[in-house]
Amino acid sequence: MKTMLRNKFKLGFFPTPLQPLKQLSKRYPDYSLFIKRDDHTGLASGGNKTRKLEYLIQEAIDNDCNAVITAGAQQSNHCRQTVAACAVAGLECHLMLGGTKPEVYDGNLLLSHLLGATIHFAGENRKGEDIDALKSELELNGKKCFIIPYGGSNITGALGYVNAVKELKDQLIEQNINIDYIFFASSSGGTQAGLTLGMDLFDLNTALIPINIDKAETYGIPTEEYILKLLIRGKEVLNIKRDYQLKDIKFIRDYDKAGYGIMTDNERSAILKLAGTEGIILDPVYTGRAFYGMLDYLENDKIKAGSNVLFWHTGGLPAIFHYADKF
Ligand SMILES: Cc1ncc(COP(=O)(O)O)c(C=O)c1O
Repeated sequence: MKTMLRNKFKLGFFPTPLQPLKQLSKRYPDYSLFIKRDDHTGLASGGNKTRKLEYLIQEAIDNDCNAVITAGAQQSNHCRQTVAACAVAGLECHLMLGGTKPEVYDGNLLLSHLLGATIHFAGENRKGEDIDALKSELELNGKKCFIIPYGGSNITGALGYVNAVKELKDQLIEQNINIDYIFFASSSGGTQAGLTLGMDLFDLNTALIPINIDKAETYGIPTEEYILKLLIRGKEVLNIKRDYQLKDIKFIRDYDKAGYGIMTDNERSAILKLAGTEGIILDPVYTGRAFYGMLDYLENDKIKAGSNVLFWHTGGLPAIFHYADKF
């Protein structure tokens, strides 16, 4: 049902650029490297959530909601883009953020504040555990609330990346490129589920290599299991003729050991390498970790020599300012 992919609220700048990584490819002569610039989706400094939010915000509007609630860490890119999207759509936005109120706001938290969020600090709970209580409270005050789960990773949000595959396929045809592998940061699963469904819906035969970021569970279950749920739901709504099984879900857990939001020498080295060779900034939490994973694959011959490799840059730039003292 490709028509459902058209029911979205325009928020971003699409298509995002697809570019060769010319300088970096010289350092890895066995491979041709490319990057998809979703750090330029446009919504208050961009990122992957903009694609998801085009569908989520449309659903909020279709349901006559006037307030949106979502959750995340204080440096959540998802939360920052959600507040920006709400501003564009004229919706009130409430964020439930983990931890306690810091003395100074920086990075994504500063932007979320500037963009007009009402911020609620939720202590230990960075994954929306308190959302229902807040919803009841707002509803007593006459609001009609739309809840976006942390990361925006339900089937509606995942449609953003189903559609992104069509965008990529058109660019590959136009630029006459064939991509063998796509590396990207996977965390709450919506991007991965969307890309997987999109590959099947639009018949693009490229191997996905999702690098896991957060070793904790997603919505109370292992992330692979959650991704499977999204795939089964997606198969139904998009009428995809394929059976999805847990064993087929690739989810690389080799680089998540430090824990969520902890920047190590791995992420730091990856950030410095891409910045110094291509003038592109990764983020310390997601894309720095995923890019490190990709470099490890290239350096240790974990994928076929001679292949074309794409890194899907999913954004996160503002968080770098929160980690300034780590560089
Ligand atoms: C910059 C960035 N990359 C990747 C991801 C992971 O996306 P998903 O939660 O859809 O797996 C996020 C999620 O917050 C992100 O902010």
